[in-house]
Amino acid sequence: MKFSVDTEFRVPMRDGVELATSVWRPDGPGPFPALLVRTPYGKDGADLYGNQKLPDVFALVEAGYAVVAQDVRGTGQSPELLEPHRHDGEDGVDTLGWLAAQPWCDGNIGTWGGSYMGFVQWQAAALGAPALRAMSTAMTSADLYRAPWYSPGGALSLGGFYTWASLAALGNVRRGAAPGRAGELMAGLADSEKLFDPLPVADRSALIEALPWVREVLDHPERDAYWENLAAIDRAASITVPAFHLGGWYDLFLGETVRAYTLMRQHGGSEAAREGQRLVIGPWGHPDGADAGLFPDRSFGMAGSIKAAAVTDSQLQFFDHWIRGRADDGPRVRIFVMGIDTWRDETDWPLPDTRYTDYHLTGDGRANTARGDGRLTAAGPDQDASDVFRYDPLDPVPTLGGNILPLGGFAGPADQSEIENRSDVLCYTTPELDRPLEVTGPVELVLHVSSSAPDTDFTGKLVDVHPDGRALILCEGMCRTRYQADRMVPGDVYELRLDLNVTSNVFLPGHRLRLEVSSSNFPRYDRNTNTGGVIAEEARTVVAINQVHHGPAHPSRLVLPIIERS
Ligand code: BEZ
Repeated sequence: MKFSVDTEFRVPMRDGVELATSVWRPDGPGPFPALLVRTPYGKDGADLYGNQKLPDVFALVEAGYAVVAQDVRGTGQSPELLEPHRHDGEDGVDTLGWLAAQPWCDGNIGTWGGSYMGFVQWQAAALGAPALRAMSTAMTSADLYRAPWYSPGGALSLGGFYTWASLAALGNVRRGAAPGRAGELMAGLADSEKLFDPLPVADRSALIEALPWVREVLDHPERDAYWENLAAIDRAASITVPAFHLGGWYDLFLGETVRAYTLMRQHGGSEAAREGQRLVIGPWGHPDGADAGLFPDRSFGMAGSIKAAAVTDSQLQFFDHWIRGRADDGPRVRIFVMGIDTWRDETDWPLPDTRYTDYHLTGDGRANTARGDGRLTAAGPDQDASDVFRYDPLDPVPTLGGNILPLGGFAGPADQSEIENRSDVLCYTTPELDRPLEVTGPVELVLHVSSSAPDTDFTGKLVDVHPDGRALILCEGMCRTRYQADRMVPGDVYELRLDLNVTSNVFLPGHRLRLEVSSSNFPRYDRNTNTGGVIAEEARTVVAINQVHHGPAHPSRLVLPIIERS
């Protein structure tokens, strides 16, 4: 293969700032269709070229595309300091306009990239860019409140936020911001307790000095106009291009990956956008290395590796169709079904034959720990009861795996047994299954709760209990009660709906389904201080006595997407 690489382009933005850009071109005069990636991680670095979740640049060039990589404003060789999200939409539109006007570009452009490189694609697409034909996104979000900065239930995603922000702040320090604060930022990254534990949460002066955007995020704990403005998916109707979505069952962006697919299918701004969405989800987490399908507590076998998903082939097939008009016979949805550890093609998401089925919480009032009497039953219970636990924000339930950036442990299917010994974790478990049970799709938890506090959190986790005792997390979520119950009155019972994200798992014979309920998952989420005040500003915490009610009067239940096929 012959190609040329020019790393010295400077592309002018509307305000005169010039962004550093590299262009890879196939041999020959062109003009070529182009594929653009905009990154904060180095346009010429290994993060772009060695990342298995992204298509292989050499293969893209060999297939006849010009590949264009740009350092986003405030990173790499581009000028200014990083202000996350501020310029991403307009800079993306300006770059697409510049690209379409180059003599070596035929005016048909696709964008690609994962994570932050996906955020920027959504921001530009929502503003409308005439030359854009298709987007290929991996493990990303088009609704930045829901992921990665806060969460669907309203808690701050503290661990991921402060980890990523510390790295970004160090980038700004290298450019001259906040002189003398590098040591503190590095200390926080080296010792996560220093970064996550101190209260108030907002008391992080080195971080805020180097990256003032951190203060903005903390100042907007609700999904208000600030976040609506950054939620490209709220403007799905103005996005007219198809998108390829790559996701991981243990990726922190999983919920928003499938939500972007679903909302674009429903509301995309053209027939092509509605029909052209494609979704691939494998047993992977976000960090590099979490894409082999191999985790300390669970291996998904050879098929679970991202190599088996042939990311470059599928993305090329997708681009070739939407940019060059070639045939695309790839499936609309391709998922790795855990438990049976097999890839399966589907016609849509959620799977059209899903039966949403209630599994009721029940027991005699002692569901605390996995040794308690909490049960999960398909038949509705005929007796009312409730389970009580003490939630102390200064002794929160620690995060163990799940859909996280690694925070001390690993992202993925971690064994929850240790957590299930805590008296502030309620466990509701089915008997051992005598036949396989498939759960594929969105999982919802309806909880009837009361609390001694005016505001607190409730968390829920779906777990696959293996015959050898491993209790492996599948998916989880939370609810900050102020967003569904306003200020609670002690003794009053409130119904909450918790989005527990999505999964695909066959519970095999001999396995048990388990639901864990508690009030914290730290540092995945910030801790509710239980005071009813502005949480990020609170140094004071109060212990809450929290209660889950179940039975005919208070039908607390897990709503599972069940798939039954012969
Ligand atoms: C990423 O680009 O990998 C990333 C961005 C924001 C939060 C977490 C990860």
